[in-house]
Amino acid sequence: MPDALAPPRFAYMPFGAGPRVCVGAPFALTELVLVTAALVRAFRIELAQHRPIAPVGLVTLQPETPPPFRLIPRGSG
Ligand code: HEM
Repeated sequence: MPDALAPPRFAYMPFGAGPRVCVGAPFALTELVLVTAALVRAFRIELAQHRPIAPVGLVTLQPETPPPFRLIPRGSG
């Protein structure tokens, strides 16, 4: 959000924090954007189930069960 305050530094820390913070974080975040862009460009992605996805707060926020997705190649109708 353009006008929003930056979140507190330790509100979100998937890569840990402090002296042992993940050294691969910039690489992982770059790779995430590139892989997501390549997938969305090549496929239309649909949820392959009808029940809602329930979030569960563990160390990270996760879906209760892994939700199945259907990847439909773009240009196939
Ligand atoms: C989404 C991907 C990744 C996640 C969520 C992740 C998460 C983490 C976390 C939570 C730690 C522990 C930090 C702590 O103890 O405070 C860690 C450490 C580390 N990660 Fe990652 N990581 C990811 C990708 C990578 C990649 C791609 C590399 C290397 C190219 C990498 C290399 C390392 C190394 C070397 C450490 C140990 C750092 C140390 O102990 O000094 N990680 N990572």
